[in-house]
Formats: sequence, structure tokens, C-alpha cells
Amino acid sequence: MAKLEIRNLHVALEDGTEIVKGVDLTVSANEKHAIMGPNGSGKSTLAYALMGHPAYEITEGEILLDGEDVTELEADERAHRGLFLAFQYPHAIPGVTVTSFLRSAINAQRKARNGGEDDPIPIPEFRKSLLEAMEKLKVPRELASRYLNDGFSGGEKKRVEILQMAMLRPRIAVLDETDSGLDIDALKIVASGVNELVGPEMGALVITHYQRILNYIQPDFVHVFVDGRIVAEGGPELAHRLEAEGYEAFTPAGVGGGETS
Ligand SMILES: Nc1ncnc2c1ncn2[C@@H]1O[C@H](COP(=O)(O)OP(=O)(O)O)[C@@H](O)[C@H]1O
Ligand SMILES: [Mg+2]
Repeated sequence: MAKLEIRNLHVALEDGTEIVKGVDLTVSANEKHAIMGPNGSGKSTLAYALMGHPAYEITEGEILLDGEDVTELEADERAHRGLFLAFQYPHAIPGVTVTSFLRSAINAQRKARNGGEDDPIPIPEFRKSLLEAMEKLKVPRELASRYLNDGFSGGEKKRVEILQMAMLRPRIAVLDETDSGLDIDALKIVASGVNELVGPEMGALVITHYQRILNYIQPDFVHVFVDGRIVAEGGPELAHRLEAEGYEAFTPAGVGGGETS
């Protein structure tokens, strides 16, 4: 079963500033996890470190995917092992349709899984799987033939992102729902995609500072993230407590000073 284990993860910026200060978290297939924290708490830094972004240095701890230590692997190697990061979103690519973008993403994955030898997906198989995914996610047919990101709305970009996720069938998906510009339709698209795809084959970690995405995704686990650390964990009720009390209630003083250092 798919499993992402984050153990005592510390992440620093290039200038040495520590941003993520010891995170322990396990996400398994069939589970929806939410990390919620205020702006600047280090959520995206955690997501980038999980992805393998070279600007974020893991100074301590480890990341295991299905028991394999991937801490030292490159971003693409992590992706090919089944870790999907939704913000790895391509910028506008002139002349490339959504369909051909998705096909090349799949073929890159197949090539990597085939020891570096090309192993392109047969067109009929690709078509079938694309149509199935579009139907499942209620993506309008016409989107597939449009040029990638060419005048796409926030909602359309999210649709392609979720479609890409459905086609690549990751084992663990990490979605960094960076706030700005995400309208309610885009949020709903992400939420229904996550709800549709999480199952025996996939688990998801949704990172957000907005409680409202959780009106659509019912997380099984909520992790409150403040100043580089998980300061509280629980079920969906925690998200509601957050909404009512704000993050202040979860700062070290607020939780009773029980934190070590
Ligand atoms: N590439 C970077 N260069 C400089 N500072 C960064 C970089 N990435 C993150 N930071 C800093 O790290 C802190 C945490 O940022 P971030 O991880 O984006 O938080 P969040 O996603 O929770 O809003 C902030 O102080 C931010 O300015
Ligand atoms: Mg962020």
C-alpha cells in the first residue's frame, strides 16, 4: 500500500535559515490529510522539500516512499516513483495542446519506469484512459484540444492539474493550495478531484491556509502547522476549531507550553 513517511524533517533555505523544524507525518493510501497553517509558517517550503526542489535543503531527517528512502533523489525520480506535486504546473507552452501535454507526461513516466528506454503509450490506450479520466472528473471535452494555459482561467488550470494527476496515477499526491487567485470554483475542482482519486491506490496531502477548502474535502487527518512545526493533530473537528479560534490558540503558549524548545 502506498505510504509516504516524513521523519524528523528539517529544511533550510540556501542562506541556512531553518524553516521546517522537525516534521513527522505519515500519509497512506486511502487517507486525506490536511496541513493547515498561517502564511509564512513554512508550508510551501515543506512541499518543495518533499518534491526535491534544489533550493530547499534537507538538513536533517528523511522522506520514505513505500519504505524506500527518497531523501536524496532528484525531483523527477521522486515523481517517477509515484509522488505527485500539484504545483509542478507547466507554464504556457505554445502550440502544445492539453492532450499532447498529458501524453508526453505519461510517456516520460513510462520511459523512466522502463529503465530509460522509450515505451510510448499506444494511442488507443491513451485515448481511452483520457476519456475515462475526463468523464470521472467532469472535465469538458473541449478542454483537451485547447493549447495548454493559453488564456486558461484559474479553474481550467486546476482542471488540467487534476486531470494530470488522474492520468499519472500517483501513489501519494501533495497539493499546495497556495491561496491567491484560487476562486471558489477552482477550489471545488481540486476538492472533487481529490475526493474522486483518493482510494486504495492513492493518498493525498492537501496544504492550505484556508479553512474553506475543507468545506469540500473532508480530511481524515488535520495537522496544524505553525512556525515550521506541527503543533496539533486530529480529525476534521480540528479544522473547525481552527476556524473558530484561529491559529493563536495553537501557538506554543496557547497549547500550554508543552512544546520542547
Ligand atoms: N526561496 C526562498 N527564498 C527566501 N525565502 C524563502 C524562500 N522560500 C521560503 N522563504 C521564506 O520562508 C518562510 C516560509 O515561507 P513558505 O514556506 O512560503 O510559507 P507558507 O507556504 O506557509 O506561506 C517565509 O519567511 C519565506 O519568506
Ligand atoms: Mg505557501
